[in-house]
Amino acid sequence: MRAMIVRTPATLDTLTAVDLPDAGAPAAGEIAVRLHASSLNFHDYLVVNGTIPTGDRRIPMSDGAGEVIAVGDGVSEFAPGDRVVSIFHPRWQAGAMPEAHFRHVPGDGVDGYAREAVAAPATWFTKAPEGYSHLEAATLTCAGVTAWRALVPDGPTLAGQTVLVQGSGGVSLFALQFAKAMGARVIATSSSEAKLERLIALGADHVINYRTTPDWGRAAFALCGGVDHVVEIGGPGTLPQSIEAIGIGGHIALIGVLTGVSGEIPTARLMGKQGRLQGVSVGSRRDQRDMIAAIEANDLRPVIDRSFPLEALADAFRHQESGAHFGKIGVEIG
Ligand SMILES: NC(=O)c1ccc[n+]([C@@H]2O[C@H](COP(=O)([O-])OP(=O)(O)OC[C@H]3O[C@@H](n4cnc5c(N)ncnc54)[C@H](OP(=O)(O)O)[C@@H]3O)[C@@H](O)[C@H]2O)c1
Repeated sequence: MRAMIVRTPATLDTLTAVDLPDAGAPAAGEIAVRLHASSLNFHDYLVVNGTIPTGDRRIPMSDGAGEVIAVGDGVSEFAPGDRVVSIFHPRWQAGAMPEAHFRHVPGDGVDGYAREAVAAPATWFTKAPEGYSHLEAATLTCAGVTAWRALVPDGPTLAGQTVLVQGSGGVSLFALQFAKAMGARVIATSSSEAKLERLIALGADHVINYRTTPDWGRAAFALCGGVDHVVEIGGPGTLPQSIEAIGIGGHIALIGVLTGVSGEIPTARLMGKQGRLQGVSVGSRRDQRDMIAAIEANDLRPVIDRSFPLEALADAFRHQESGAHFGKIGVEIG
């Protein structure tokens, strides 16, 4: 089978297409999946560009969707022909997260889904949403579950509340869609006027250009008297404004590090507002199944900017690097 592997030192230029032995028959408790799609996340980018050190010849990509082609002994949840999508934390089935590291995360600590086939435990997958293409399903593993987790199990978002989403990347657009499905009002930010128009078309009630309005947190507060939930994807560079945006007892889902991994936080301001800062590491398999039920009930579709063939994975990451995308960047396999 064809696969992409990371060579060390890892850079986009050393992402390499190779032929590997096929996945083989599934062992007891496993399913064999013919993979048809993946999608890019910022975490995958950090793996393929060497920021997150990984093993030489690691197969990248946490997201994988495809069709079950065989099931091992003892597997009753899936049958050949089922369309499935991978989960991000294979050891986190439900409840509290069992470990705070990425040693078992596909595409990081273990091989991921930039390949044509895999045999893996059935518990590493869920069924894909009814009617979804493989490409659509492959957007859910990381970005979809993260947005869901932030706003629904963690939020929880109530109808009539206000949610602020930052920028127009994968996590933020899922968050916008889930927030609207929960009956919330959405304030969306972007660096681009053209993307702000698209955010309105997607259902945003208010938009703010965070480049031309650097005090966007105060602007968001003024729009609603205090935001209830912020989907924080920027990290230290945006957190001070997110703290300004929230009302008393507001919730900030700390998800991303696009502006850096450490920095100053206006601690007293957060305390004074009795804000709730909740770290997020994607979610459990149970979260993924709950999210898929909500997607089916609300007929939600992911926003896919464009897709690239597997062997053009480096070009897909260069497109992500450019920041020109709106929503998810997909990978088509086979
Ligand atoms: N903790 C978790 O479980 C988890 C899970 C998934 C992702 N993440 C993290 O969440 C972040 C976003 O991931 P993603 O996959 O959605 O990335 P992405 O699709 O590449 O999104 C990038 C977008 O973020 C926006 N952005 C960049 N800098 C910004 C800033 N200073 N303020 C506001 N928006 C900004 C830009 O939108 P505009 O072009 O519209 O300005 C950009 O297009 C990453 O740091 C990623 O590692 C964390």
